[in-house]
Amino acid sequence: MPDNKRIIVALDMDDQDKVIKLIDQLNPDQCRVKIGKELFTLYGPELVRQVQSKGFDVFLDLKFHDIPHTVYKAVRAACALNVWMLTIHASGGAEMLRAAKTAVSESNHKPLLVAVTVLTSMADEDLVVQGIQRTTEEQVLRLASLAQGCGMDGVVCSASETLSLRKLLSDDFLLVTPGIRPAGDEVQDQKRVVTPGQAVLSGSSYLVIGRPITQARRPIEKLHQILAEISGTAPSLC
Ligand code: C5P
Repeated sequence: MPDNKRIIVALDMDDQDKVIKLIDQLNPDQCRVKIGKELFTLYGPELVRQVQSKGFDVFLDLKFHDIPHTVYKAVRAACALNVWMLTIHASGGAEMLRAAKTAVSESNHKPLLVAVTVLTSMADEDLVVQGIQRTTEEQVLRLASLAQGCGMDGVVCSASETLSLRKLLSDDFLLVTPGIRPAGDEVQDQKRVVTPGQAVLSGSSYLVIGRPITQARRPIEKLHQILAEISGTAPSLC
């Protein structure tokens, strides 16, 4: 089934009224939305339901990373929220990934389960500090093959790695890419950034975009500019 809703707007805000104001201007036929740690910690499942009631698919980005039993229980709880996609950290290891997969398999509602590889705010030198003697790309490839082997639906990575990942992984494996910055936008704390058009050309399945939209003077106009940018570049949509 073709998926032409490639943009996931990251609702990284701390005010519920502002979230709802933005949501009310967005069209659920044009994008999906992401609720992350800040919003979920502030407003919890109630906000997830509120956003869903307005017709949006919710990507619950809580990036679980814990012992397998805890992650199993957390993923089970997330599945009960009827979310479209959720995240765990690939670096939690094979046993943890499989526990998450089991929780999804046992659930009535089965969200897409994607594993975060290397955060897009990190570069090679940040891995060295962690004692990892590999480039970010090598580490992303390694974690992505682990994730695929453990039954994940996809990974979160930078769009700068998607070309290499596509050669290694099956075509239907989802590549979810934050670190998206339209040309000329501020990079902020992101390090491995790619423009929306380039991300789609490189094989990104979904583009996670937060501040370039939410902090724009006119967020909806900005979203439409991004949609126009990618509409000319999308190959056959996955
Ligand atoms: O504002 P910006 O577009 O940088 O937001 C990116 C979003 O994607 C944030 O919500 C961040 O938590 C999330 N994310 C990321 N890098 C990852 C995984 C998720 O930036 N590897």
